[in-house]
Amino acid sequence: MSMPPDIRQRAEALVASERERFAALHPRSRQLAAEAGEHFPGGVPLHWMLDWETPFPLFVQCAEGSTVTDIDGHAYADFCLGDTGAMFGHSPAPVAKAIAEQAAKGLTAMLPSALTACVGQLLSDRFGLPFWQVTATASDANRAVVRWARALTGRRKVLVFDGCYHGQVEDAFVKLDGTVTKMKPSLLGQVVDIAENTIALPFNDLEAVEAALANEDVALILTEPALTNTAMVLPKDGYIEGLLAAARRHGTLVCIDETHTISTGPGGFTRAHGLEPDFFVLGKPVAGGLPAAVFGFTAKVEADMRRVLDTKVPGYSGIGTTLSGNMLALAAMRACLEEVMTPENYAHMTALAEKLASGLRGEVSGHGLPWTVTQIGARAELVFSSRPLENGAEASAAIDHTVERAIHLFLLNRNVLVTPFHNMTLVAPTTTQADVERLVTRFGEALSALCGRAEV
Ligand SMILES: Cc1ncc(COP(=O)(O)O)c(C=O)c1O
Repeated sequence: MSMPPDIRQRAEALVASERERFAALHPRSRQLAAEAGEHFPGGVPLHWMLDWETPFPLFVQCAEGSTVTDIDGHAYADFCLGDTGAMFGHSPAPVAKAIAEQAAKGLTAMLPSALTACVGQLLSDRFGLPFWQVTATASDANRAVVRWARALTGRRKVLVFDGCYHGQVEDAFVKLDGTVTKMKPSLLGQVVDIAENTIALPFNDLEAVEAALANEDVALILTEPALTNTAMVLPKDGYIEGLLAAARRHGTLVCIDETHTISTGPGGFTRAHGLEPDFFVLGKPVAGGLPAAVFGFTAKVEADMRRVLDTKVPGYSGIGTTLSGNMLALAAMRACLEEVMTPENYAHMTALAEKLASGLRGEVSGHGLPWTVTQIGARAELVFSSRPLENGAEASAAIDHTVERAIHLFLLNRNVLVTPFHNMTLVAPTTTQADVERLVTRFGEALSALCGRAEV
């Protein structure tokens, strides 16, 4: 068993005491929550910001590099990094400079910026795909890819993996119930049954993929190279390559969504493993935290897109939004790709993430706990399982919200931020050895509290 029962009991008590501690430490956040709550439900501009499990939101005064400072004056070593949006640190200097310069010269015009050719070249050199489009978010990029794939292949179905998340993309909100694909019951306002056109399969199971593709009605496989939106699941050796080969045999297109796995290295998992997908998606940090995302595609896909556009009936394509590809986004992206997402920065991030992962492992084993730490470049995650996970069902069984919450709150109250969703940590170019040591030490203290070894 990966979660000793006495740990869960102590976690419940710890959550309660840490919520009180948070309330005592944050009088100004409490006040602002009340004021903001007059016009924003819960006091937040996006309801996800309530997922931190603090009794009221923590309000940010400023965020610079790897440090977030709240309005009560507490400074945090930030390993959440905007849940990857700020993966290269908050306001990286070259991006901030590019934004300031572009801001004086126009933000959006529904015309291409003078930087367009330069950004296209940077994307192509970096990720290996010749053609690109820009969207405002990774959700939009994935949604566009799904629509294009259906339009290009004339097929209806999309294949995703149980445990996946690709943003606000309706087609991916399914899960496996045994072997049956079901729409996620938590979805709000969804009136069409997504499971009619989407197939969910277990990750790391090439036989299941082969069987599903055999009907030749699947337009697209949409996948991350590793499942990062549940307890982290890494691909088995050769799995993604096998997926691509099977898809090719059956006329199915493949999109690799690297929005989180860009932690792997400067070209993402795709470049690190020499993969050749039909589509490639990257959102969140690609413009240094400014809302922007990209999707890349092959020359064959581009030719098919032109054919479809040339022959379609006049009217809305349903693909695209007004602010996509605006001048500000292009300026930020140019700076981020050229000056921030550098091999040097990645070398720093990966080396420190290794130290972080090994520090966490040391604390886990020092407390005799049956847990693992999974790492993909700059991203490291504590997983409540004694062995690496293989698929979404195992990942779901390894999640324990109460224990997670206790660890998050314990760390937050001791000036360390980790993402509120599972136990994920990210290392930025601005993260220091001292930040990592602080996290590891505080994490060890959290485990001691959970194991009943310490008074807190
Ligand atoms: C793999 C992946 N794709 C897409 C998205 C959607 O990103 P956004 O919310 O910025 O649209 C996410 C968000 O967590 C993600 O993890």
